[in-house]
Amino acid sequence: MTDDFSLFDTPVERVGTGSLKWARYAGREVLPMWVADMDFRAAQPIMDALHRRVDHGVFGYSVAHEGPAVAVCGHLRRVHGVEIDPSWIYWMPGMVVGLAQAATLAGEDGDEIMTFTPVYPPFLKVHKDARRSLVKVPLAVNCGRYTFDFDAMEAAVTPRTRMVFLCSPHNPVGRVWTRAELDALAEFCLRHDLLLISDEIHADLLLEPQTAPHTTALKLEGDIRSRTITLMAASKTYNIPGLGLCFAIIPDEKLRRRFQLTKNTFVAEISPLSFHATEAAFNQCESWRQSLCRYLRRNRDTIVHFLSENAPGVVMPHMESTYLAWLDVRALGLPQPASSHFEAYGLAMNNGADFGVPGTGFVRLNFGCPLSNLEEGLRRFKSALP
Ligand SMILES: Cc1ncc(COP(=O)(O)O)c(C=O)c1O
Repeated sequence: MTDDFSLFDTPVERVGTGSLKWARYAGREVLPMWVADMDFRAAQPIMDALHRRVDHGVFGYSVAHEGPAVAVCGHLRRVHGVEIDPSWIYWMPGMVVGLAQAATLAGEDGDEIMTFTPVYPPFLKVHKDARRSLVKVPLAVNCGRYTFDFDAMEAAVTPRTRMVFLCSPHNPVGRVWTRAELDALAEFCLRHDLLLISDEIHADLLLEPQTAPHTTALKLEGDIRSRTITLMAASKTYNIPGLGLCFAIIPDEKLRRRFQLTKNTFVAEISPLSFHATEAAFNQCESWRQSLCRYLRRNRDTIVHFLSENAPGVVMPHMESTYLAWLDVRALGLPQPASSHFEAYGLAMNNGADFGVPGTGFVRLNFGCPLSNLEEGLRRFKSALP
């Protein structure tokens, strides 16, 4: 199959559009490769659906119509090989909202949530509003491959631990957890009476779908089913995160009811536009998604090649998913934090310290952009090398 990469190759001017990613550096010679959205236009069916809804002209409070739930079910069946009932879906205005609601679901003040670092920063913060404690267990790393460290998890779990926050696939280390790893994690959760909260926002951004396919927590069998909340969204994959929509899938009726009750007064209503965009994404954008994943894979390979030629001391784990590269730049001996050093050379990346790793010798580079932007970013990366 030949790809139409022109959709992704074409740079889009985002300065002046209210983009968080670009506004921070407006007017400065800094290329933003940090916060996780992509510099691509959404697929045409999404824009058509939005135009149709906008043309209606009334934007009152919304409720999910039947279409988005049917679209989610169809997508899960076709892409992830799992059947769900539409009634298991609970809609929310964003994934971090879902994590924050989940944090309050079990236990009382001071009880614990376990998560695995490095990890997407809100995983390290949402427990605070819920007045819970956080148990951070570093992922083990072996020759650049990150895995769960079950010995460390056994040592860290306590009678007050109530749930595990899982990032699957994992931002920022790019792992797609295998079925065997997830089964072992499920067994750990059952043995310690824990809920499993599985954030699968990156589930459709697979760089190696043949050899590293995603296993959704919805496929786990046995008693873990009644203790699992799977959080998903179209937002990352189809580049519509600013529209704000995610959903929890909760097969167990009692758990679903409990989760619904965690909605508090801080949680805003959902934008009517987002439902239409999500429905179009899941129903009509599968070939766009597949081309995107191939494009991102080529971008990842460009980084691998660049590092081996120019900065062999920099370690990037093998990225199986996401468009977020986790770079260990400690060997370069740069002034700290390394992200500020690169910024001074015109390249903005995330500071690794925000992901819960000690030290500041890690950066996260967002490669969800046209190849030409990535090449410019890598040129600046090179200029910053000692
Ligand atoms: C793992 C993960 N969860 C959640 C989010 C954010 O989701 P939302 O914008 O819907 O709150 C991100 C964004 O990068 C993410 O990587």
